Amino acid sequence: MDIVVSGIRSTGRLHLGNYFGAVRQFLGMQRTHQCYFFIADYHSLTTHPDPAALRASTRQVLIEYMACGIDPGKAVIYRQSDIPEIPELYMLLNMHAYVGELERVASFKEKVRKQPGNVNAGLLTYPVLMTADIIIHRARWVPVGKDQEQHLEMARNFVQRFNRLYGTDFFPEPYPFRQSDGQMVKVPGLDGSGKMGKSDGEAQAIFLSDDPTLVRKKVMRAVTDSGPTTENAPIADTISHLFQLLELVSPPDVVQHYLDTYAQCSIRYGDLKKQLAEDIIAFLTPIQEQIKVLEADEAQLKRVLNEGAEKARQSAGYTLRTVRELMGFNT
Ligand code: ADP
Ligand code: TRP
Repeated sequence: MDIVVSGIRSTGRLHLGNYFGAVRQFLGMQRTHQCYFFIADYHSLTTHPDPAALRASTRQVLIEYMACGIDPGKAVIYRQSDIPEIPELYMLLNMHAYVGELERVASFKEKVRKQPGNVNAGLLTYPVLMTADIIIHRARWVPVGKDQEQHLEMARNFVQRFNRLYGTDFFPEPYPFRQSDGQMVKVPGLDGSGKMGKSDGEAQAIFLSDDPTLVRKKVMRAVTDSGPTTENAPIADTISHLFQLLELVSPPDVVQHYLDTYAQCSIRYGDLKKQLAEDIIAFLTPIQEQIKVLEADEAQLKRVLNEGAEKARQSAGYTLRTVRELMGFNT
């Protein structure tokens, strides 16, 4: 059976971009594949080295994953830092990763721009750690959003190199999970400037834990344009972010209504925003109810992490033993 691995950095609460970019795909796959879902707490060190915040946000990410429906009865859920085989594989892979290729990665260049005072080696080798996360279970599919496409390309390079160097086909090449139209998901932010994310200001992201008042406030402040002026014009880039969000959370007839009124130039963005806010709230309500239940159940959270770590280590242990043998250690 094909293996699936996905992770989210423990840098705080999940937003709609995380949900529709990664978690939703995973929900479908956990019924049909052997799935591993982890909290990438080592990865968060590249930007947020704060022990108390790390502990709190790791717990929050676990709660929110499970509140979305990631089911410890179907998938293995664990913390990256509970699996010592991951950093060992990362170290081994680093010996075959070239500084030149790592320096060319777009996310690295962006971090160099954004945090020039903290260009650490972990940032440079981020794609190597991510590769270790994936191939530690010999995964073939990785449900992630569009922003991770290049990291997966790197993972395939590292896998090909390893297999070639050691004359093996032990590791399958990992591919991003794509939608039926072949696309990877990119959820736009409310300001329309790019992807929804926590790093570009809280106001342009809707978090799974945002209460209805906050959701209404953020959506009503979303950036719009001055409206269509010619009939049957395609949706302008300056307003497409709101249509894209509507498509994610609203029923098809509602989406169609706004597409029709846009085409007729009779659309009122105020109405669209009210509808979008209410549909986001309806989407979030059951998740928030689950968040409350899980927040109060420390015993379950502990159990999930303990059992997850044990299962993940079995699979990781097998990989590491094979890798060490292939590379000529302990033989
Ligand atoms: P963030 O980008 O907010 O820091 P992460 O980097 O932890 O979030 O992303 C975790 C997962 O969520 C990744 O699979 C990433 O591709 C996905 N993701 C994050 N933001 C978006 C978005 N706006 N659209 C689609 N997927 C996203
Ligand atoms: N790099 C991913 C992100 O920023 C998180 C991540 C780390 C990941 N390791 C992974 C995702 C392995 C999928 C598989 O979103």
